[in-house]
Amino acid sequence: MPPLISAEHLSFEYPNGFKALKNVSFTVEPGEFLVVIGLSGSGKSTLMRTINRLLEPTSGTLTFHGSDVTHIEGDALRRHRQKIGMIFQHFNLIKRHSVLRNTLYGALGQLSSMQSMLGHFSPDLCEKALRNLDIVGIREKADQRADSLSGGQQQRVAIARALMQDPMLLLADEPVASLDPATSHSVMKYLDRINKEFGTTVVCNLHFLSLVRQYATRVIALKAGEIVFEGQPSEITEQWFKEIYGDDATEVEIR
Ligand SMILES: Nc1ncnc2c1ncn2[C@@H]1O[C@H](COP(=O)(O)OP(=O)(O)OP(=O)(O)O)[C@@H](O)[C@H]1O
Ligand SMILES: [Mg+2]
Repeated sequence: MPPLISAEHLSFEYPNGFKALKNVSFTVEPGEFLVVIGLSGSGKSTLMRTINRLLEPTSGTLTFHGSDVTHIEGDALRRHRQKIGMIFQHFNLIKRHSVLRNTLYGALGQLSSMQSMLGHFSPDLCEKALRNLDIVGIREKADQRADSLSGGQQQRVAIARALMQDPMLLLADEPVASLDPATSHSVMKYLDRINKEFGTTVVCNLHFLSLVRQYATRVIALKAGEIVFEGQPSEITEQWFKEIYGDDATEVEIR
């Protein structure tokens, strides 16, 4: 099977001239749980936004599922984004809307513009939304307002929403950065389960190495926009840790 993602000499420069990604090359095989680490500002979010093509690479090539997506636009770009579910640090739910409705919004990309304008969702889609809420263990909250849920539960709604796209890839940008340690694990466990049970490829940014060691099948470390480490989580020795995070850094555990 070809890689799901292949980045070759990928670079990205912001309009102000700042080079946030420099000559980045890596592949992601289908079914992997790849974790991206690195200091704040190292380019992790930029890399995520490049993969789903919210940003257009300045140079290099990005291939997704066998297609060159480096410079696609219009319908091709919409189809590309449709294959990728996004999960963010701050959940991005609509607070006053119900959990079910928020989940259904993940299907908006599949509807005609008239259907989405009317907010009209078929019984089939509602059934699918409930199934996805079931996968993340919160089906019974379907009718509650999103803002009545805890942070961890809201992130699980965001995962259910992403699943509405039947994504080939889940991109999670610091999905547990706003959560306490116990809740972090509950969210990571669902991502892990989706990865293992459905074979959905996951690319995820994480800050805590203990989470990286527990959930990643492979790790990439970015430093000032360059890949400085690629390997198994168990290969991140003390020496690598200092190389990635700097000499003054010490590891903080999350259990
Ligand atoms: N719109 C922008 N214009 C110019 N520079 C930007 C822009 N967005 C981000 N940057 C810069 O690009 C670099 C990478 O930013 P990015 O958000 O990808 O880092 P990150 O690794 O996700 O950091 P964090 O862990 O804090 O989320 C940073 O130095 C940042 O200041
Ligand atoms: Mg970031």
